[in-house]
Amino acid sequence: MGSTVIVGGFFGDEGKGKIVAHLAFADKPTIIARGGIGPNAGHTIEVRGRKFGVRMIPSGFVYADARLLIGAGVLVDPLVLLGEVKLLEEAKRIGVDYRCAIIEKKHITLDKDDPHLSRTIGSTGTGCGPAAADRARRTTIQASEVPELTPFLTDTAAEVNHALTAGENVILEGSQGFGISLYYGIFPYVTSKDTTASQIAADVGVGPTRIDDTIVVFKTFPTRVGAGPFATQMSEEEAKKLHIEEFGTVTGRPRRIGWWDPKMAAYSAMINGATQVAITGLDKLDPNVRGADQFDDLSTKVRTFIREAEEQVGVPFTLLSTGPELAEIIDLREEKLSRA
Ligand code: GTP
Ligand code: IMP
Ligand code: MG
Repeated sequence: MGSTVIVGGFFGDEGKGKIVAHLAFADKPTIIARGGIGPNAGHTIEVRGRKFGVRMIPSGFVYADARLLIGAGVLVDPLVLLGEVKLLEEAKRIGVDYRCAIIEKKHITLDKDDPHLSRTIGSTGTGCGPAAADRARRTTIQASEVPELTPFLTDTAAEVNHALTAGENVILEGSQGFGISLYYGIFPYVTSKDTTASQIAADVGVGPTRIDDTIVVFKTFPTRVGAGPFATQMSEEEAKKLHIEEFGTVTGRPRRIGWWDPKMAAYSAMINGATQVAITGLDKLDPNVRGADQFDDLSTKVRTFIREAEEQVGVPFTLLSTGPELAEIIDLREEKLSRA
């Protein structure tokens, strides 16, 4: 496996956290490194009935044997990070790149008070946008200047590259989704940085020649939080009727729900350079398949959806998620990827 980048193919919240956790148990990486913007992300992982939500620590933390690193490109809110470290009792294996830019209180205040950010864009209010702006102005402080972070400081890029040289498996975990990329989303209804696989690799410090796989995660019914166009959005009544309502991990805001968007999926897979697709929420398409862990247990409706979507996107659908629980997944990588 070598290095695998995981990114969101729609507007975020596709279930990357769950997919990363599955890959971690299956592939036993020595490092799980997070790229992406910062604590605006909220990854949810459910393991044997326990539900975890993380914003800074890589969501692969449920797998106990990997180093958990944060790449230099990520904005770090020390309060959020230290809170998660304490809650999850994970201090020993966490590393923060000493070059990460720091989110300060003033950034959070501005994110919440600026009507352009909070209302027009519908930001998460986590300070990411203002901190990214200050980073571009070169006025932010770095992780190396925050005493509380001293025990965690590392060179994430060096650690990851050395692991790859040693032939180890590494997961590079993205956050957010293609549709809210600063470059490729519908401007200005986007987040403060690109969200594609190349950006995640750069955030962590891995060059394009060293990426072995890029898994783009889609959900059967895309969702969007915050403002901005959503081509396939359905009405609230329709979503209620289908029992597919969702709420944000970070903000608790209701997520807008849409129909599967083949055009967006194909475009997003192209720009991400997808080698594989993971699809979540198959149980939302057909509740009868909830928890299925064998392809043969899928209904005709779900199989037809997968076959058609695979044709539309042009990339093998290798990971099929049939529920939020870690074990509710069908992993077809061995069958579908005939690699020497
Ligand atoms: P961001 O980094 O914030 O974009 O989040 P994310 O991609 O990690 O996704 P998030 O956890 O915010 O949202 C996905 C939601 O779907 C969570 O509540 C998961 O528990 C849930 N989920 C994941 N896979 C499945 C699935 O196959 N079926 C169902 N019903 N829910 C799922
Ligand atoms: P910001 O990243 O907080 O500035 O928010 C900008 C836009 O991106 C808003 O529409 C947010 O709702 C959206 N956004 C940011 N992070 C996430 C995420 O992790 N999941 C889904 N939407 C997000
Ligand atoms: Mg989320």
